[in-house]
Amino acid sequence: QKLAVGIDIGGTNTVFGLVDKEGNCLVQDSIFTKQFDNFDDFVKVLAEKIKSLSKKLHFKFELIGAGVGAPNANYRDNSIEEASNLPWKGKLQLGDLLKRELNIPVYVTNDANAAAVAEMIFGGAIGMKHFMVLTLGTGLGSGIVIDGELLYGYSGFAGELGHVIVRPEGRHCGCGRLGCLETYVSATGIKRTVSKLFAKHHDKSELRNLPFNKMSARRLADAAYAGDKIALESFEFTGRILGLALANVVALNNPEVIFLSGGLAKAGDLILKPTQYHMDDNLLSVLKGKTKVELSKIQGNSGLLGAAALVWKVLE
Ligand code: BGC
Ligand code: NA
Ligand code: ZN
Repeated sequence: QKLAVGIDIGGTNTVFGLVDKEGNCLVQDSIFTKQFDNFDDFVKVLAEKIKSLSKKLHFKFELIGAGVGAPNANYRDNSIEEASNLPWKGKLQLGDLLKRELNIPVYVTNDANAAAVAEMIFGGAIGMKHFMVLTLGTGLGSGIVIDGELLYGYSGFAGELGHVIVRPEGRHCGCGRLGCLETYVSATGIKRTVSKLFAKHHDKSELRNLPFNKMSARRLADAAYAGDKIALESFEFTGRILGLALANVVALNNPEVIFLSGGLAKAGDLILKPTQYHMDDNLLSVLKGKTKVELSKIQGNSGLLGAAALVWKVLE
């Protein structure tokens, strides 16, 4: 049997697993990305962990390659460049380093592009030619498929939707600028919103007792379903900003469906409903009501699965 390694490098955790051609992840593990000050150390530990993962499967198989999805990754040269949410700066030769450790071909692509590949092959976009996947995690990423093609662009960075400026002079972004979409719409962005709302409102809220690092989209969703006003308002605010941004995106790309994945998407209707509403409200009339905002249909980590699928695609 042949298997591919799938790796999803995130600002918080890096998840990796061994995946078969049908998209089943047979074993997986993760490491805490932020614990590594040095990129070379990170790659070494990642490679070691992948090798020990291989020992957990008690049948014979061949590893045919590794696919990596990462923020600010460039598919054209297998590198990561100036990632806002990773601890390492500059241009990182991820493909070369990992290949040296693992001795198999390595393909690097943007994490949200990997998620789009997964949606296209295993998820809700099977047979669909025009769609987008947004990953709402530590940052906000997007993978755009139009006319059946994943868009890479001139230098490989098409789809950096998280760094579209939605509020001039707005919140500080990891990219060094102000007011980027991901500072509002991401698993971390919504937490920043909640902190702002604490100061603005005097409502009692359970959330006030929760330390910032214990807060999560899941906890916020639970609070919202229990009627917490601050939690409810944080989702409404987030959906309004996302919906407006998506109205602009739809005017440019005219997708059929926009799939949401990642930590913030786990809030389901709490984020879907206001996003769909404000997107349609702001759309050009000829485009109104034609694009659906849905949850990703991938169970498990779509970045990991899509990165692994990339290996099969390339080797076919
Ligand atoms: C990066 C993107 C990435 C997204 C999600 C953003 O900050 O610029 O490349 O896809 O985060 O990780
Ligand atoms: Na992308
Ligand atoms: Zn930014």
